[in-house]
Amino acid sequence: MADDLELRFERTVQADARIEPRDWMPDGYRKTLIRQIAQHAHSEIIGMQPEGNWISRAPSLRRKAILLAKVQDEAGHGLYLYSATETLGADREDLTLKLIEGRQKYSSIFNYPTLTFADVGVIGWLVDGAAICNQVPLCRTSYGPYARAMIRICKEESFHQRQGYELLMTMMRGTQQQRDMVQDSVNRWWWPALMMFGPPDSESTNTEQSMAWRIKRDTNDELRQKFVNMSVPQAEALGVTFPDPELRWNEERGQYDFGQPDWDEFWQVVKGGGVCNAQRIAHRRKAHEDGAWVREAAAAHAQKQAQKQAV
Ligand code: ACO
Repeated sequence: MADDLELRFERTVQADARIEPRDWMPDGYRKTLIRQIAQHAHSEIIGMQPEGNWISRAPSLRRKAILLAKVQDEAGHGLYLYSATETLGADREDLTLKLIEGRQKYSSIFNYPTLTFADVGVIGWLVDGAAICNQVPLCRTSYGPYARAMIRICKEESFHQRQGYELLMTMMRGTQQQRDMVQDSVNRWWWPALMMFGPPDSESTNTEQSMAWRIKRDTNDELRQKFVNMSVPQAEALGVTFPDPELRWNEERGQYDFGQPDWDEFWQVVKGGGVCNAQRIAHRRKAHEDGAWVREAAAAHAQKQAQKQAV
């Protein structure tokens, strides 16, 4: 019986069909999905902070409205993704506690500070651009609820990337000071954006199994290369450069060669030692504690409704 279930699971995955919540799945598959989707959800939620920092200081009503909409979208993405983990038996409260107690990770990128308004544009262009590059293939991930959540998320991420690029185009048409701000921001975000794809394949502990289960559809290095290839012409059109002396077109490979990010810095940030890690978690913890009354009120309301229905 167990062999039959396992065989059916393997066949479904190999046929590129979807595993659904009620289907049998190996414990490792369930655990890996909960880990990846929870980290993804936490990233969306923590990711509201660096840009949220600029909502009250956006330079015009139009920019403020765009930024507000974008940050609200990130909250929505976090909620779809937490819902996807619930279909696997995870508990949202438990995941939130794991995040604020440092027992679960979130993307390294959100531990860097947003120093100028140009950072809002560069985050849209490069950070959301990297997110799209990583997430479009996840629309074909083997777990149904995750794949479906990703379709909607990718559509919204695409708007996020465009608003960032458009903001930067506007700044590049402005004064020399504005152009310098954009270049400075690109210099600060380029390497952290490359780190978003995770460690090199040779050091990635999860890739091999996640690829076999078709949770991941491409490796970290494959996606990083795709992102570099995609970003170089966009930088040229914008009139900025990337801070990488090794970046050049390789005719033979038909791809760009590029340098490696500082992987020691990456691991330091992942382990909690980045510039903003403590601030991000403290902020998330406070928001969770401040929201306790809302959760209590919602639970009391649900209980009352259930009692009414039982009568
Ligand atoms: N930041 C923080 N931790 C990371 C990062 C990163 N950029 N990249 C990898 N890690 C962690 C992994 O979670 C893993 O830790 P764990 O085993 O303790 O969970 C460890 O480093 C080793 O990495 P991998 O074995 O390569 O991990 P994995 O196979 O999960 O690949 C990746 C990492 C590519 C991020 C994958 O999980 C993924 O595609 N996730 C979905 C997308 C996502 O989470 N995006 C978040 C940012 S986008 C946004 O929010 C706008």
